[in-house]
Amino acid sequence: MKDSLVAQFAAAFGRAPEFVARAPGRIEFIGNHTDYNGGPVLGAAIDRGVWVALARRDDGLRIFASDQRPGAVTLPAATPPGRQTGAASWVNYPLGVLAALPVFGVPVPAGFDYFAASDLPAGAGLSSSAAIELASALAFVAATGAAADREVLVQAARHAENHFVGVPCGILDQGVSGFGRRDHLVFIDCRGPRFETVPLPAGVQFRIFNTHTKHALVDGLYAARHRECVAAAAALGVAQLVDATAAQVAQAALPAIEARRARHVVDEIARVGATVTALRAGDLGAVGRLLAASHESSRALFENSTAELDFLVSALTASPHVYGARLTGGGFGGAVMALTTAEFGAAEAEAVAAAYAARFGTRPDLLQTRTGDGAERIL
Ligand code: GLA
Repeated sequence: MKDSLVAQFAAAFGRAPEFVARAPGRIEFIGNHTDYNGGPVLGAAIDRGVWVALARRDDGLRIFASDQRPGAVTLPAATPPGRQTGAASWVNYPLGVLAALPVFGVPVPAGFDYFAASDLPAGAGLSSSAAIELASALAFVAATGAAADREVLVQAARHAENHFVGVPCGILDQGVSGFGRRDHLVFIDCRGPRFETVPLPAGVQFRIFNTHTKHALVDGLYAARHRECVAAAAALGVAQLVDATAAQVAQAALPAIEARRARHVVDEIARVGATVTALRAGDLGAVGRLLAASHESSRALFENSTAELDFLVSALTASPHVYGARLTGGGFGGAVMALTTAEFGAAEAEAVAAAYAARFGTRPDLLQTRTGDGAERIL
């Protein structure tokens, strides 16, 4: 990937890059919509991601190009640009990072040539946005020679998403992309936030089934869930739902929708803790049951699943080679992840895809992936 990125950079800008960084996509393992409620979450960085190459310019221009779209976007460094729309909207991720880093006291380069390349399917629920944010942050920091902690870069990337891109997400995606480690899951206590890694038992595999379905209102629905959770916390008299107990939620006279959202979040927070315990004990059967319970709660209480995701989860769970399966990420379409034994092979994945195609008329994309390391500077 590095060689092809350098070649693409040279084709676009007629010279070699000075700096290269990469950051991985992520799987949300368990902890659905717990992050912005202050709860814990478990994710895995995967072995695919976004690569960013950069070389400084001395004319104050910032020129952005990528392997995903033709043409380049040129913007002056001197006048901080607003949010881009249309074909240029992908540039909002690096622009958001450029706006966020100074908020955390980290300087950014003035002019530069920038090229982003990805081997992460976009729109697959694997957080290509966090990957481009983290890779960009590392490249910008390399270009100024500033020192910045990994945690600061993660916080700045989330800030970019919240304040520039305009998604009120928690810290899951950027935290896992930043702190990922091969053969490990990343545990985030989102209150701190505090980042840890938990070893993944040997012999397990991840399979991703991307439905390519996306609810037309997905961004609005995510924001609505966020608001419902904030309202439930306020009605319970706690700062965030992480501070509420299951008994409090059961006894409170909350409006029906807020009661369901709060029950999901409070139970899901308990499931994340139970999953860490089961992983440390090597009890993959218990992990699988927790994954299944998480999906069922997303479906029935948080109401962010879809018929397509439910179908895949049932088809996968029926296999003796699948520990558990659940929707991964925001929901309302997107992807299902399955934790499987090594025996779950291509033929079995194909059979699930064929059954899905017979039911819905389109095939899901299949991805077998391994855990990978977090964001790093390559050059
Ligand atoms: C998206 C957001 C994350 C998290 C998940 C749901 O992936 O970006 O911050 O809220 O949804 O758990």
